[in-house]
Amino acid sequence: AELERFVNEPDTDWSLPGNAEWIEAVMKTKKGQCVDLPQTNISKQADVATCFDPSQPDVPVCRYVPATIPEVHAAVDRAVNDESDWANTTIEHRHALLQQTAQNLRDRRGELIAVMVADGGKTVSEADPEVSEAIDFCEFYPLSVNIWRNHPTIRLRPRGVVAVVSPWNFPLAIPCGGIAASLAAGNRVILKPASQTVLTAWELCRAFWDAGVPESVLQCVPCSGQTAEAGLIKNPSIDTVILTGGTTTAKRMLTARPDLHLLAETGGKNATIVTAMADRELAVKHVVQSAFGHSGQKCSATSLLLLEDEVFHDKRFRDLLADAVESIRVGSSWDLSTRMGPLITKPRAELNRGLKSLEEDESWLVVPEHVVANPNLYRPGVKWNIRPGSFTHLTELFGPVLGVMRFSRLEEAIAIIRSTGYGLTSGIESLDEREIELWRETIHAGNLYINRPTTGAIVLRQPFGGVGLSAYGPGVKAGGPHYVLALMNVENRSETH
Ligand code: ALA
Repeated sequence: AELERFVNEPDTDWSLPGNAEWIEAVMKTKKGQCVDLPQTNISKQADVATCFDPSQPDVPVCRYVPATIPEVHAAVDRAVNDESDWANTTIEHRHALLQQTAQNLRDRRGELIAVMVADGGKTVSEADPEVSEAIDFCEFYPLSVNIWRNHPTIRLRPRGVVAVVSPWNFPLAIPCGGIAASLAAGNRVILKPASQTVLTAWELCRAFWDAGVPESVLQCVPCSGQTAEAGLIKNPSIDTVILTGGTTTAKRMLTARPDLHLLAETGGKNATIVTAMADRELAVKHVVQSAFGHSGQKCSATSLLLLEDEVFHDKRFRDLLADAVESIRVGSSWDLSTRMGPLITKPRAELNRGLKSLEEDESWLVVPEHVVANPNLYRPGVKWNIRPGSFTHLTELFGPVLGVMRFSRLEEAIAIIRSTGYGLTSGIESLDEREIELWRETIHAGNLYINRPTTGAIVLRQPFGGVGLSAYGPGVKAGGPHYVLALMNVENRSETH
């Protein structure tokens, strides 16, 4: 019943007159601006860090002083000694502050989109749903605490101080989810944002602070990975870590701190299967959206396309796919007509290999060309005839390269997908119920998508989280009713009279 009160926040309807003009006017005020975070020592410090605009990588968008290890320790101590006694506030109080935070995000939608364009390189159409998701998290998690609170024999207690270690690819919604869930559950939070998107993280925290969340309850501590490991992860006062990042980062955290309560969303090598029974036009549309949204830099992105023999040899399908990929408009994210913006930085070694080299039997259906003038900007590529066990089959590239494989039987396709070890999202395009049923029963993934894209999970409708190498921890899903339980200690009370 609690959750019946929840309604997802709508995205902006760009077809309505005035909306494009509105966002262009907001973006004009932000483009080319460099913001100094309001830290008192920024003018004195030598080691000021800078975030750059991925669409124009020489242009700085934000300067800040990264925290040192003693400063991180001090932030944790402040959270431990929280003067506001947040852990003993009522859920009604916390709910009201999170609702006000949601309202602040709603009121600042245009500015938030512009900062995500500025430091995350997101296109407007990718940044907009992120604001909706952030609002949803603020409204959903307090309601989900209530579901469990109303249970007759259990009592919920906050766990303590949570470190939220967030990524650059969803610089607003993902940290917002970790913060909102932790706060709803009565915990204090230290946010360690990705170093590329500190400006968005700061604006997010401002939405919470302006709503009345005390500064000892939510602290934003931008710092290097090494500092975070020494100051946060190894700090015994940190009870829980919510990480969204690489599988290696999760493993490293557990090595540094084996007793850590870790909720980690890690990598993916997600596949969409297209069988001979699919609506092929629709399949192309869904796959292109799943593979190249945010330039393929989503953990949920489809990076493998598995085609049943008949589809693999269907020249019309191949031409449709190539045409759809070639017609994606690539460019600066400040331009509203851009469909695929820049990478966050120039390609890392693995992505570079994925973009540049072919293995035996592979060929390019579409070549992923570098767009001159910006080292971060690539046209999307489609690599044809990837073999099982090859580099492109098994490596998460996190960029605009789709690898196409072929299969004869559905069981074979499922085995190819399983052998990656990951299990985040998985898609099937088929109109045959028996095929869908077989796939559903045997695929190994946290989020299964049938005849729709594998990206864009919506709070409560598609609670999000993986299995296998894609997740560490209790297996609760972001945007689902159980998530807050992993952030609380549950006491069961029995009494005999
Ligand atoms: N939750 C994000 C998506 O579904 C990662 O695309």
